[in-house]
Amino acid sequence: MPLSSALIDNTIAFVKEELAQAEGGHDWFHIERVYKTAMRLAKEEQAEVQTVALAALLHDIADAKFHGGDESLGPKKAAEFLGTQKVDPAQIDSVVKIIEHMSFKNSFEKNSYDSLELRVVRDADRLDAIGAIGIARAFNYGGFKNRALYDPQIEPQLNMTKEQYKKSTAPTINHFYEKLLLLQDMMHTKTGRQMAAGRHKFMEAYLSQFYGEWEGER
Ligand code: ADP
Ligand code: NI
Repeated sequence: MPLSSALIDNTIAFVKEELAQAEGGHDWFHIERVYKTAMRLAKEEQAEVQTVALAALLHDIADAKFHGGDESLGPKKAAEFLGTQKVDPAQIDSVVKIIEHMSFKNSFEKNSYDSLELRVVRDADRLDAIGAIGIARAFNYGGFKNRALYDPQIEPQLNMTKEQYKKSTAPTINHFYEKLLLLQDMMHTKTGRQMAAGRHKFMEAYLSQFYGEWEGER
């Protein structure tokens, strides 16, 4: 693991405890993957490493989807935790702002906040939503919500509002068109873009195979 310190160790322990009941797409291993990728991107982008590490580790505690839509709970819990850890208040502020502005849902809104560290952690989180892992997470989420895999009658909805996106009950394949295939063009770091390109190609190949099998052609 990169960046070993008492603070990081304590944060990891806190996050593991908070996520003990999380569904499979949002569990500790999601955080670990995002953390590793974010550390790699931070180095290449020369971002402030501790801010990136803390934001990556804390970005998904108390997901609003599973807390009655309350989007302030995660950032609040993160701020409370960091307050117990002798972290510089300015750094707590940066980490909390990153967590508040990370999500794809919030990208529907014009964001006022931006920082190199936010870009790094958000790219790392978006990378985990695409490629082989992204596909696995999407179907896992769809299963958790009891969604159909695919229904040729139900067209993907582009240009959804944030409310429509949150309420959608569409089949999981639609999620590729509504989110996963859009992420490649939403990267803000150089390595993030390169990694996204490879994962994007893999999803395209996957979809082509999926439709071929659906028609009994492959
Ligand atoms: P974000 O925090 O960026 O808004 P989410 O929490 O919505 O992302 O998504 C977490 C994971 O669940 C991602 O891998 C995402 O692609 C997947 N997911 C979210 N909504 C759906 C959906 N409607 N169908 C399938 N997968 C989904
Ligand atoms: Ni995440």
